[in-house]
This record gives sequence, C-alpha cells and structure tokens, in this order.
Amino acid sequence: MDRNNSEELTDALGRPLKDLRISVTDRCNFRCSYCMPLDKYEWIDRREILTFEEVTRLASLFVKLGVEEIRLTGGEPLLRHNLGSLVRQISRIDGLKDLSLTTNASLLQEQAKGLAEAGLNRINVSLDTINRERFQTMTRRDELDNVLAGLREAAHCGLQPIKLNSVIERGVNDVDIPELVEFARKNDFQIRFIEYMDVGNSNNWVSDRMVSKGEILETISGLFPLEEGSRNDDSAPSVDYRFRDGAGNVGVIASVTEPFCEGCTRTRLTADGKMVLCLFSDKGFDLKQLIRNGATDEELLSTIRSVWSARRDRYSEERLEAMNSGEYQPNSKKKIEMISLGG
Ligand code: GTP
Ligand code: 5AD
Ligand code: SF4
Ligand code: SF4
Repeated sequence: MDRNNSEELTDALGRPLKDLRISVTDRCNFRCSYCMPLDKYEWIDRREILTFEEVTRLASLFVKLGVEEIRLTGGEPLLRHNLGSLVRQISRIDGLKDLSLTTNASLLQEQAKGLAEAGLNRINVSLDTINRERFQTMTRRDELDNVLAGLREAAHCGLQPIKLNSVIERGVNDVDIPELVEFARKNDFQIRFIEYMDVGNSNNWVSDRMVSKGEILETISGLFPLEEGSRNDDSAPSVDYRFRDGAGNVGVIASVTEPFCEGCTRTRLTADGKMVLCLFSDKGFDLKQLIRNGATDEELLSTIRSVWSARRDRYSEERLEAMNSGEYQPNSKKKIEMISLGG
C-alpha cells in the first residue's frame, strides 16, 4: 500500500486531489429523512453499476494522480455483495495510505471480521441517536441493537479508530447530544457532530433546523470542558476538541457556518461511475462510459486530469455568502442526491 510514485494535480483554485470517496451502491436499508429522497428517486439500474474490476482500475488511476486516501461509501456499502473482495483489491494498490468505510453499521456484526482481514483500516459510522424511539423515527427502521452490536464487533476486530458521525437536526435529535457524547467517551469512539446541510433536492432544509457549531460546542462544554480545537490536517472537514479530562476528543463538522471548501481535496465516484467534484454538484463526469467504450489508462488519466484541473466548486462558501446577504434560496439549485454520493 505504501510506495509514493504519484504526481500532484491541482484544480483551478490550487487544491490538490488527495481523497477519493467511492459509492459502491445507492441502495440503503435505512430511510433517514435528511438524506433519502423517498419516492422521487430513481435507483441506478444494476447494469450501470461499476464492477469491482472497473472500480479497482479507476481507484489505481486516481492514486497515480495523487489520491492517498480512499473511502468506500453508499447508500449503505455493506449491502454490496462480497464487498470484502473489493476491499482486498483496493487495499493492494501501491501508494494508497488509508482505506476506510462509511456505514450505518446495521450489517457490521457479520461483516467486520472479513473486512478487517481483507485490508480495511477503519470505519466511520453514521449514528444520530442511541434512543430507540428516535432512532426508529429518524431512520424509519428498528435496527439500533444491530448497530450497537456492529460497533462492538468492529472494535473487537481492530477497525480503529472508530468515528461516529451524528447529524443534528433541531427539534429532532438535538436533545441527544449529551447522551451521544457520553456513549462515545465510554466506548472510546471519536464522535463528530455535523451541522445539518441542504443536501439533495427534497430534505426540506431551512437554516432554522440546523444546529450550529457554536450551539453544539456550548452544549458539550457545559458538561465536559474542552480544549481549543484544530483540524487533523488542512483538508479535514472536522475541527476536533480535546476533553480536558483526557477522555479523548469530539469533533464538529461545520460546513454551513464555517465552510472548508478552501482545503477541499475530495472527489467522489458514484456507483455508476460518475466523477463528482462537490457534494452539491448537479452532475458528474461519466468515466464508466469511457471505460466501457474501451478507453486506455492514458486516456482515462488525461480525462481525470482535465476534469480536476477545471474544478472551481466551493458550494458551502457560496452558500454562506448568499445566506449572509439574504439571497440564499434552499431549493434553487438542482443537486445529486446524497444517497448516491454517501456523504
Ligand atoms: P475522516 O478522514 O475519517 O476524518 O473522514 P472525514 O472527516 O472526511 O469525514 P466523513 O467522510 O466521515 O464525513 C463526515 C460528514 O462530513 C459527511 O457525511 C458530510 O456530512 C460531511 N462532509 C464530508 N466531506 C465533506 C465535504 O467535502 N463537503 C461538505 N460540505 N461536507 C462534507
Ligand atoms: N446533512 C449533513 N450530513 C448529512 N449526511 C447525509 N445527509 C446529511 C445532511 N442533510 C451525511 C451523514 C451520514 C452520511 C452518510 O452522510 O454524515 O452519516
Ligand atoms: Fe441514512 Fe446513510 Fe442510508 Fe442516507 S445512506 S438513508 S444517511 S443510513
Ligand atoms: Fe468540497 Fe463542495 Fe464540500 Fe466545499 S461544499 S468542501 S467544495 S465538497
């Protein structure tokens, strides 16, 4: 996984390409209201889904262009049949430094061991409450026990560090912040609270439902005093704060009130092979079509280079500018659904 033989490719705003997030399926067994478009979404046709060979080929080309970290995501990636085999192939790519997975953890108890053995380094788990009733309301599934069992098994198999991602929506789960913090501290998970965002086209986002980083930190530090925060690296979405008592840290991902587009080194690949430059894009560049039309590696590399070089996306910064000048309209721009990008 380790040799460094890549080039550094930068976009039109000088940002290097460092992270690739690969959605392996747009299917999910949960129905979180802040993410799922429900009846309006057209599922990707199975024939359009990239094969493992196609994904691995693209992943190696991205690594040649400077990508150091790959995250597998969904929908729910554990629904993709035989995911361990893809993990095994990707983890062998020369030059790759980190391979992680974003999951809702409901199927993790059965799969953690195989994934760890196949070469997965670590996981991030989406968990917005540990209250059974609210869990069911938010995900529309009664799966909390399976999620908790999945977390235990992942820790047991050494998929560390385990990070928890909690999206906080006012009036829905803001009351859960203290309990989530205690749960994370007790189990040695790194929890990050996420400002609720205007993703996709139908989550009915209004800024009042977003609980800001300031409010989140006020709640937490009232219970557990915190030390000044910092980013793990310049491009990390999360700003991390240490508990003064030494019991680990807590992060906040404040893409609404403190956007981090300036350091955004992330590109995304949808399950049907589109290269997407921003979480809020309305379309991606179709790499699958090139592959299936017989493109050579050189042709693919040159296309990816030119797509990234032209990138000027900075949606969250633009949203903040528009919010500050009173011009922001939540549904004025069409976006790809979060279920096909996986966060
Ligand atoms: P680690 O390397 O494990 O720390 O991952 P990460 O900090 O990149 O975070 P992760 O992939 O777990 O993302 C957590 C959440 O942050 C996502 O689900 C999104 O809600 C948000 N997020 C991540 N990347 C971006 C981004 O590029 N833009 C915006 N606006 N939000 C992002
Ligand atoms: N706001 C913020 N984060 C979101 N995610 C999905 N929808 C939203 C939203 N509206 C993120 C969550 C989830 C991951 C899959 O995507 O972190 O864990
Ligand atoms: Fe919920 Fe994640 Fe599934 Fe979206 S992809 S419905 S956030 S579990
Ligand atoms: Fe990157 Fe787009 Fe997120 Fe900004 S809004 S950090 S450009 S993905």
